[in-house]
Amino acid sequence: MKFLQFSVLPFLIVILSLNGATLAHPYGDFLHCLSLRISNSSAISKVFYTQNNPSYSSVLNASIQNTRFSTPTTPKPYAIITPRKTSHVQSTIYCSKNHGFQLRIRSGGHDVEGVSYVSQVPFVILDLVNFRAVKVDTKNEVVWVQSGATTGELYYGIASKTQTLGFPAGICHTIGIGGHLSGGGFGILGRKYGLAADHIIDAKLIDANGRILNRKSMGEDLFWAIRGGGGNTFGVVLAWKIKLVPVPPVVTVFTVNKNLEQNATKIFHRWQYIAHKLPNDLFTAVWIMKVNSSQVGKKTVQAGFRGMFLGGVDELIPLIQHEFPELGLAKENCTQMSWVQSILYFGGLPIQPVEILLNRNALPRSSLKAKTDFVKEPMPETGIEGFMNMFLEEEADFAITMIEAFGGKMDEIQENELPTHIEQASYAGTYINWIRRLYSYMASYVSKSPREAYYNYKDLDLGTNNVNGYTSYEQASVWGLKYFKNNFKRLVQIKTMIDPMNFFRNEQSVPHLWSP
Ligand SMILES: Cc1cc2nc3c(=O)[nH]c(=O)nc-3n(C[C@H](O)[C@H](O)[C@H](O)COP(=O)(O)OP(=O)(O)OC[C@H]3O[C@@H](n4cnc5c(N)ncnc54)[C@H](O)[C@@H]3O)c2cc1C
Ligand SMILES: *[C@@H]1O[C@H](CO)[C@@H](O)[C@H](O)[C@H]1NC(C)=O
Ligand SMILES: *[C@@H]1O[C@H](CO)[C@@H](O)[C@H](O)[C@H]1NC(C)=O
Ligand SMILES: *[C@@H]1O[C@H](CO)[C@@H](O)[C@H](O)[C@H]1NC(C)=O
Ligand SMILES: *[C@@H]1O[C@H](CO)[C@@H](O)[C@H](O)[C@H]1NC(C)=O
Ligand SMILES: *[C@@H]1O[C@H](CO)[C@@H](O)[C@H](O)[C@H]1NC(C)=O
Repeated sequence: MKFLQFSVLPFLIVILSLNGATLAHPYGDFLHCLSLRISNSSAISKVFYTQNNPSYSSVLNASIQNTRFSTPTTPKPYAIITPRKTSHVQSTIYCSKNHGFQLRIRSGGHDVEGVSYVSQVPFVILDLVNFRAVKVDTKNEVVWVQSGATTGELYYGIASKTQTLGFPAGICHTIGIGGHLSGGGFGILGRKYGLAADHIIDAKLIDANGRILNRKSMGEDLFWAIRGGGGNTFGVVLAWKIKLVPVPPVVTVFTVNKNLEQNATKIFHRWQYIAHKLPNDLFTAVWIMKVNSSQVGKKTVQAGFRGMFLGGVDELIPLIQHEFPELGLAKENCTQMSWVQSILYFGGLPIQPVEILLNRNALPRSSLKAKTDFVKEPMPETGIEGFMNMFLEEEADFAITMIEAFGGKMDEIQENELPTHIEQASYAGTYINWIRRLYSYMASYVSKSPREAYYNYKDLDLGTNNVNGYTSYEQASVWGLKYFKNNFKRLVQIKTMIDPMNFFRNEQSVPHLWSP
């Protein structure tokens, strides 16, 4: 393709200085610009936080999920705008564009690399915390959900109207809809129904020119791109119309823990041959972590086999006994509950009223680094042994790997829709060197050329853009092909069409092409 030949030209340096906030008083000008456009002064005090505002720190901190990016030396935004109306969003885009501020959009603040609230160049945050309405229409089985809502608010909204509809999105209930749907969205209903992004049927997007677009006016190319092509790239998505999926009134969840002394390695090895072929109604995952075992009186590594079955326990037990007897699943390991309660279960919360889903601080925050891989062939037992042994290291005290079985619906989705794989492993840990070593160790067991990764667990180790200038196709394809494979080119073309000045950008946003 012709754009493969682009490299850095003198022209691009011009673009760089345009975007570089070299104006004498960009900050004051920005403020002035906004106050002119948001003229209602009682409204502006509720939508605009500068560093002088006593609420600035708490508004900034409110949804920082990764405390690695909440230190005194972390770059801070010049201002945080928490719009209450669409016009506030348009004004923010207009004023940041004209006064040289990079804009970072934040919905739930769960970006693993913090790119929704940190930038190395002068920036402002557009925080959609006030765009959080969830309008459930059970008759048509659809919901209009605003981007600043959390998955928990969405799940709660659905469950408060019906017990037999659900939505296939992520496990953690404090994730924001905006970033999550922009990057795919995989959770416990994934084998049955695919990704969250597969169920988006309309959206409200504000582009770099402040135009308000819906599915019809944006066209199918752009509508395709915003469903998985990444956030902060094509525009600000204010709301999404999603199609709900059927769930039974009762589901069954289970956990069976096996440590190294209980043949965890062997059982995990066996699981790899079974999990992706199980009926779509049965999702399973293995969570690996270090534990202090009172049984063996020392530290060991535990493989937690966790699952959810869309049906009752009496149907599940014979199914597992037939397909995966090695697990030794007993009725005592299973709990029947509603689908919405299962969100709490997988989030590690005890059974309690589902109102907890509305609490954005219900889950602990931590300092974390994450990586993902796609495992396409079962790992040999010796490979698993080495992998498990790495968890015995001191640096792995707080590390966790989640290996989620795909198959089912995830195999039916065309590659140009969203990725399809057998298993996905995500590693999360506090100790960055350890997780990097684990990642090198895994190289021979996972997808190659490219070594694929899942965009929603952003990993800047894979390569980054030049956030204050032009990023060539070659530079971006180092990370872009890992996340998007053959779709990357098409995403770049759509990006170039909708945002030719690359106003919306971050360290790993699909870049535009510059052409003379
Ligand atoms: C604890 C934890 C658990 C997770 N569990 C899962 C899981 O089970 N399944 C899964 O698939 N993923 C999971 N993730 C990853 C998660 O889906 C992504 O980090 C997702 O992007 C977070 O969305 P957010 O709105 O909370 O994040 P934000 O940090 O607000 O945004 C993420 C990115 O999207 C952009 N963005 C945000 N809102 C908008 C918008 N309205 N319009 C345009 N761009 C926008 C931001 O600028 C940023 O680039 C998890 C992450 C964490 C930290
Ligand atoms: C000004 O903003 C306040 C608070 O958002 C609102 O109640 C009021 O109706 C607005 N007035 C005008 C003229 O828009
Ligand atoms: C940020 O918010 C979290 C959750 O509310 C809180 O635990 C933490 O102490 C806050 N940190 C700062 C620096 O304010
Ligand atoms: C599963 O059930 C068995 C048999 O009752 C029990 O020994 C084991 O502790 C249970 N495991 C978990 C993780 O609950
Ligand atoms: C582990 O596997 C071996 C051989 O398959 C078996 O003999 C042993 O009983 C198993 N141990 C446990 C704790 O299940
Ligand atoms: C194990 O126990 C030690 C000492 O009691 C504790 O410091 C550590 O955090 C525990 N580790 C895990 C993984 O639970």
